[in-house]
Amino acid sequence: MNNQDYIQKGQEVILNTYARFPIAPVKGKGTHLWDADGKEYLDFLSGIAVCSLGHAPDALIPVLKEQAETLWHASNLYWLPKQVELAEKLVRLSGLSKAFFCNSGAEANEGAMKLARKYFYRKGEPERYEIIVFNHSFHGRTLGALAATMQPKYQTGYGPLPEGWLAADYNDLDSVRRLISSHTAAIMLEPIQGEGGIYPGTPEFMAGIQKLCDDNGLLLILDEVQCGMGRSGKFFAFKNYDLKPDIVTMAKALAGGMPIGAMVVSERAAAGFQPGDHASTFGGNPLVTAVACKNVEIISDETFLAQVNDRSAQLMAGLRALNDPRLTEVRGMGLMIGAAFTEEVRPLVQLCMENGLLVGSAGGNVLRLVPPLNITAEEADAALDIIKTALAAWK
Ligand SMILES: Cc1ncc(COP(=O)(O)O)c(C=O)c1O
Repeated sequence: MNNQDYIQKGQEVILNTYARFPIAPVKGKGTHLWDADGKEYLDFLSGIAVCSLGHAPDALIPVLKEQAETLWHASNLYWLPKQVELAEKLVRLSGLSKAFFCNSGAEANEGAMKLARKYFYRKGEPERYEIIVFNHSFHGRTLGALAATMQPKYQTGYGPLPEGWLAADYNDLDSVRRLISSHTAAIMLEPIQGEGGIYPGTPEFMAGIQKLCDDNGLLLILDEVQCGMGRSGKFFAFKNYDLKPDIVTMAKALAGGMPIGAMVVSERAAAGFQPGDHASTFGGNPLVTAVACKNVEIISDETFLAQVNDRSAQLMAGLRALNDPRLTEVRGMGLMIGAAFTEEVRPLVQLCMENGLLVGSAGGNVLRLVPPLNITAEEADAALDIIKTALAAWK
């Protein structure tokens, strides 16, 4: 079967929820991906910030194979050794206290928001259930996560959404201050807004958020589903700031391409959940946590993270040097890079693809580069060359 065969069959049998590009990937290795027609791509989207060691990484294959022959699933009615090991790693890297595992980013955020409410309920303050979130945020597609996702294009048509989410403006502390009341439980934000257009929080804003949480006894929830796990140049993005979060959510790259979600929480927030309060059948199963343990070990290494920052500097400088009059700003952190243009970038994404480079978009007019974290300097230069060619063809 070739690309066209898969597209035709897919259109017949798959629910029409994605505006898919017309290729059918069948094989990947490292930064390279091949479609069903045999065309090769340099993959600088890595499954939307998931395959951080590239496709089918040699370092993870033996771990996956060994676990596949040992134990796949047993349930959270029991203590699962690889889940315990992964929790230990995440607790140590975050400086927080306890971990919970699930299967996706939306599910991790649902858990975080449920925990915030239950925490205040157990403290005898059930009236504190509101969560302050931000315009242009993205927290996922389930109903609770959608209520926190302040973008009309995602929320329209799904009302009434659950009640209790208020929207402030990102990087605008006064807009947050105005929303705090005796009903506020938590402030929830992405340290780098991803889907909204790759906007890092400013150091002043983040420090102000921490102070507002401290002064008002609020829980600080950080969504690191996209910007965490080494993508920002540190294992946790919040370590680029002086922050003491109560809940940090993760997913995407945590197991290098196996489905997983997680949250790590502070000692005080952990007291919010008791047995029976929250659960997930597959959450943190042996197969996915075995792979995640090895993946986290590799990505959290300081030498590994140093080269993430080297490639970041190379790509950002290279994008700015393209000097395209439509390019207004290059921003981001680590290998989460946005190039903002004066117009919608979907045609540019298509042109890059035709020239052998997979990239994404964010917020409509931002070209999003979230390559594997272990790309080489040569691969970064090759991607920049293709973007240059695509820009020349973009009328
Ligand atoms: C910051 C952030 N939070 C949550 C999600 C939702 O994750 P998932 O698609 O795994 O539910 C995403 C997905 O893009 C995200 O970028």
